[in-house]
Amino acid sequence: MSDSRRANFGSKIGIILASAGSAVGLGNIWRFPCQVGENGGAAFILVYLCCIVLLGIPVMVSEFLIGRRSHANTGSAYEVLSPGTQWKWIGIFGVISSFLILSYYAVVAGWTLEYMIASAAGMFSKNQDFTLFFNNFVSDPVKPVMYMVIFMLLTHFIIVKGVKDGIEKFSKVMMPLLLLIICVLVVCSFSMPGSIEGLRFLLKPDFSKVTSKVILDAMGQAFFSMSIGMGCLCTYASYFTKDANLFKTAGSVALIDTLVAVMAGFIIFPAVFSVPGLSANAGPGLVFVTLPNVFQLAFHSVPWLGYLFSLMFYILLVLAALTSTISLHEVTTAFLHEKFNMSRRKAACCMTAICIFLGTFCALSFGMLGSWKLFGMTIFDLFDFVTAKLFLPLCGMFIAIFTGWYLDKKIVRDEVTNGGRLHIGFYGLFIFLLKFVAPICIGSIFINELLK
Ligand code: TRP
Repeated sequence: MSDSRRANFGSKIGIILASAGSAVGLGNIWRFPCQVGENGGAAFILVYLCCIVLLGIPVMVSEFLIGRRSHANTGSAYEVLSPGTQWKWIGIFGVISSFLILSYYAVVAGWTLEYMIASAAGMFSKNQDFTLFFNNFVSDPVKPVMYMVIFMLLTHFIIVKGVKDGIEKFSKVMMPLLLLIICVLVVCSFSMPGSIEGLRFLLKPDFSKVTSKVILDAMGQAFFSMSIGMGCLCTYASYFTKDANLFKTAGSVALIDTLVAVMAGFIIFPAVFSVPGLSANAGPGLVFVTLPNVFQLAFHSVPWLGYLFSLMFYILLVLAALTSTISLHEVTTAFLHEKFNMSRRKAACCMTAICIFLGTFCALSFGMLGSWKLFGMTIFDLFDFVTAKLFLPLCGMFIAIFTGWYLDKKIVRDEVTNGGRLHIGFYGLFIFLLKFVAPICIGSIFINELLK
């Protein structure tokens, strides 16, 4: 595809914020605390941080350079860089992952929409049992499906508007605002009576809890949270300008993403240990049950402030989820648009229809279809497992092998140094991580888990 026909992001800060917009989302605020709770706290967080630095950042830079160099969507990027080889399967798996992830992600995004409306109606200022509220809502046969569909349509309309106007402008306003409100909530949560117990859970590692399952979960979470391993960022990078510094962008995105995730932990866990009846390993409902309690308890003497914060928080959560669903949607839309010469609008319609269809099953798996199980997992859990724990790390491993071993090093160096204009001191380390550390670590964790 020629340069002139493809859109570009307008500014460097726009590039960072759009990528961070993709990375920061429900993965940080909903999935991260849920995984931390299920995997025992501080030790999991440490493994997670190692995964971000040793695997996440190098793979992210690889995705960036593949996308920018090929100037193509994920599905075609590998064919452009290595025509006629089997590497194209990485791209194809990326496209498959994108609609599998979007289908169940949109369900949780729909929940946030319901919570935003409920908080606008003053639900979270009233005294009530939030566990019951959550359980009744997710098992309802209509509401979760309806909200999922609304969310998919919102994503659809922004995607149809195109890259620069839709994605970039939106992220520029949203990201700073989200960071601000998260800081306020951390302070609120710290002020709750039992918060010390929660801090201990987050900060005092118990290494006896680190099993190969914990490592696999941490690795999957790192890939999921940074949006890597399926070509989301590769697609975005195809819109990057030539002077974008790939390492700096990856570093900034990783930093913002990790900060938001860890702060989400600092909001949730002090509260979990302060409120009787809440448990750290409550699964997907954790955030949805815990947060309303924070709003209610921390602000019980000034209810209007609680109302204001809960409303602002859910609005921002919806927006954060939206910047992520946009990036997932863009992967397949760009693929269909460029590969099959469909109009952007038609390509987007196909993607939206597929995701609404699959998403309906995921949404109902908390109620009506709760008994439909495969390998002991509901449809929702199965989608999460297959994508976050199988596809993302595996594709990540192949991306590392592709860049580390296969791709001409002249191309790699040229891209990360912007044609020799930037000095990258740790280039050798970067290649070493891609060549040896990523494939060996990811491969051995897999073999370990599968042989069990
Ligand atoms: N990273 C996003 C989040 O944390 C979700 C997401 C967007 C994603 N694009 C992705 C996850 C690509 C995996 C792959 O909410």
